[in-house]
Amino acid sequence: MSSRRFKFLKIENYIIYHFPYLRHFKYMMINKKIKHNGKLYYQQRLQQSLNSCLRPLQLTKLREKPGGHLIELSNICNLKCPMCGTHLAKRKKAHMDLKIYKRLLERIKDEGVNAVSLHTVGEPLVYPWLKEAISIAKKMGIEVLISTNANLHQRLKSVYEANPDWVKGFRFSVDAATPETYEKIRVDGKLAKVIESCEWVVKTNKRRHMSNISLFINCVISKENIKEMATFFRVFSKYTFPENIHFALINSLTPDTNYFDEKKLPFPNLYQRKIPCSTVFNSIFFNNKGKATLCCRDYDDQLIIGDAVEQPISKIWRSEIAQKIRRQHLQEEEMVIPQCKQCCVSKPGVGRALDDFIHLLQFTSPNFNNQEWSEKILSFLENLNSLLDKSETGQQKEVLTMIESFVSKGS
Ligand SMILES: C[S@@+](CC[C@H](N)C(=O)[O-])C[C@H]1O[C@@H](n2cnc3c(N)ncnc32)[C@H](O)[C@@H]1O
Ligand code: SF4
Ligand code: SF4
Repeated sequence: MSSRRFKFLKIENYIIYHFPYLRHFKYMMINKKIKHNGKLYYQQRLQQSLNSCLRPLQLTKLREKPGGHLIELSNICNLKCPMCGTHLAKRKKAHMDLKIYKRLLERIKDEGVNAVSLHTVGEPLVYPWLKEAISIAKKMGIEVLISTNANLHQRLKSVYEANPDWVKGFRFSVDAATPETYEKIRVDGKLAKVIESCEWVVKTNKRRHMSNISLFINCVISKENIKEMATFFRVFSKYTFPENIHFALINSLTPDTNYFDEKKLPFPNLYQRKIPCSTVFNSIFFNNKGKATLCCRDYDDQLIIGDAVEQPISKIWRSEIAQKIRRQHLQEEEMVIPQCKQCCVSKPGVGRALDDFIHLLQFTSPNFNNQEWSEKILSFLENLNSLLDKSETGQQKEVLTMIESFVSKGS
């Protein structure tokens, strides 16, 4: 690298670190989709998301080959987040045997799949052989995605340093911007530890003068944290591009739904009882014993469809037991799976519309305070709730026009 280029990168990194919103500008410059300006870009995205909320989806056509491919290296976790509650699951807590993991990767590779996520319900960083697991994936040419609560900073660092050419990034699940809120949602965790992990990512990227580690930050919105969204963006856009910060609505996937019932936002039309559930027709997941399941958070093995150590995935995908589960999803009166019976998640398109709206807000109104953000987000969701209440096209158009005018005036 020429010394002039080296100096330029150093200055660029300095500016971006100290003026985080310039990251955003840089991102816009390199992203061809953002042609004119961010506001227009986000408005268009939001419009697409709103349309997708209204589009009837093909939910129940069995996919030729499944997607998903999340592997549960461990169902053990260092935290006790009440919205997830993996510690309440009755299934035995265990780490996956490396031999099973290797066999799973071979099975997955046989299907022509080249990327896996290393979690379902549990924390990948507590898995003692994570470095080895990543090395095995690397040898097989399989990309790995790691979602973590980012509390185990030293472990994160050593896992990255063992395979810096293969660990391309992390998703940090955070959900709060102040220690008080953080400790209510991410019980037993500390926000300071997450910040330490974020600082390490930035330092590591700076030392190499480019972004080697992509950092994604996730926030699940509920009544608990809606009041600190402005702070959330401000804190975390120091560490990654605002586009890499994502928002979703809390869902009911947990062994104990009391927390969800108490903390979900009061807009019933944004949620649906999830039968028929598109996941069982589209995706496959693997628990720590190598068993294949049809749910990404199968806490207590209620949707197991076969043993991926014993059988090829293509066979399990169409097994009698898998088809039986799918039949239950098509005929609600036959449904006997407790987790599916009580399942409640946001309707298709809602999560993305919320995410787009928040990005639009942060771009157009960076100086809004937490109260203003919370009011705006709640008004937006209220409008969306009313949109999803309408079944006639004429009424839907009326509400859509109202939302568009709210969005362009209000944000
Ligand atoms: C179950 S965690 C497992 C991986 C890792 N322990 C973590 O926290 O990222 C996977 C993702 O599910 C999200 N999650 C957990 N409970 C949720 C809920 N009730 N609604 C929506 N997302 C949830 C977490 O925020 C995280 O991003
Ligand atoms: S969300 Fe992640 S960190 Fe929190 S309890 Fe579940 S698995 Fe653990
Ligand atoms: S619990 Fe059942 S309905 Fe809910 S996401 Fe999982 S498979 Fe779908």
